[in-house]
Amino acid sequence: MAIIGMKEARKLQETYGTPLMVVSRREIEDRFQMLSDYLPQVQPYYAVKANPNPDIIKIIKNCNPYFDICSNAEIDLIKGFGVEGKDLIHTHPIKKEQDIRYALEQGVNWFVFDNEYELNKFVNYKDQVKLLLRVSFPNPDCVVNLSFKFGVDPEHAIDLALKARELGLSVKGLCFHVGSQSLNPYKYVDAIAECRRIFNLLALKGIILEVLDIGGGFPAEYVESIIPVRNFFMPISDALNRFFPNIRIISEPGRFVVANAVNLILTVIGKSNRANVWWYYVDDGLYGSFSGKVFDHCDYPLLSERQGVREQCIVAGPTCDSFDIIYQNSSLPRLDIGDILLVPAMGAYTGCSATNFNGLAPAKTIIID
Ligand SMILES: Cc1ncc(COP(=O)(O)O)c(C=O)c1O
Repeated sequence: MAIIGMKEARKLQETYGTPLMVVSRREIEDRFQMLSDYLPQVQPYYAVKANPNPDIIKIIKNCNPYFDICSNAEIDLIKGFGVEGKDLIHTHPIKKEQDIRYALEQGVNWFVFDNEYELNKFVNYKDQVKLLLRVSFPNPDCVVNLSFKFGVDPEHAIDLALKARELGLSVKGLCFHVGSQSLNPYKYVDAIAECRRIFNLLALKGIILEVLDIGGGFPAEYVESIIPVRNFFMPISDALNRFFPNIRIISEPGRFVVANAVNLILTVIGKSNRANVWWYYVDDGLYGSFSGKVFDHCDYPLLSERQGVREQCIVAGPTCDSFDIIYQNSSLPRLDIGDILLVPAMGAYTGCSATNFNGLAPAKTIIID
């Protein structure tokens, strides 16, 4: 599952130092190829929040120049690569009115809403905005539930669309996010079927929708293996063909594009035996790239170049804070100071939430082919 082997990791450590994020251009390109092979009817908009690293954005722009953004800074970042505002969608359901104005000035017209208070913010721009109504589909089979904070219940979607029309606003479609690292494709199938029902009910009221946005959530491989990509997308594609044969369909993948395309190389910078347990201190931790453990609820595999018998150990980050423990109960061969560890699947929701706490800089990034 790693994009590089231990020997290559060792060479890169010697050349660039650590912590080091190694990005595979080919893996990112392959991910877009998979999206176009398995969901050919869907136009992906990469969710910048998953990994806004400019070197990665540059690769993505060459594969697929459409982006899902959620802030002014993300608009600026992507426009800096020559992408036009018309190729962005603003998917944050809650915005300041001045942020809507800024996005419009930058040529972004597509916005998301999920309540009537948000609708009022668009009234001054009614001739320019195109709105997607976000519907919630709570999902126990995902790691990050994105229908908890946002989305209107399907049964209230009709009233909300009617309210928008009363205000002179143009609702162009529906969107949803079934949750990040969503392991069960049938949750999309259910959501797609329910959206068809809402499309039909709105058509009866004279509101003809043109777009369905199936969000992100497509899973990446971490510690546990997941359903093969092709099998994951097949029922989703079938449901789209069945329920939405003639509608523009878009998606907002983040994790699926970048998670498995990035490996992190760490160095063991200290060790100690405390109460008969080995502690290994490494040069990246919860305040850095492993912030994804806290915010993204994610566990990452740790690979060692050593072959010996595995023993229970604790792997801790480099800051002075006791909270900065990556794994309280890891299982690794006996390590030495100077050893490296390789962490696959570090591309999504890792570096973007890293801090400079204790004056420690976030991991550097290099691109390999
Ligand atoms: C609105 C929206 N779209 C897309 C994404 C990307 O989701 P994922 O990385 O699970 O594909 C997120 C993640 O938080 C999101 O909030």
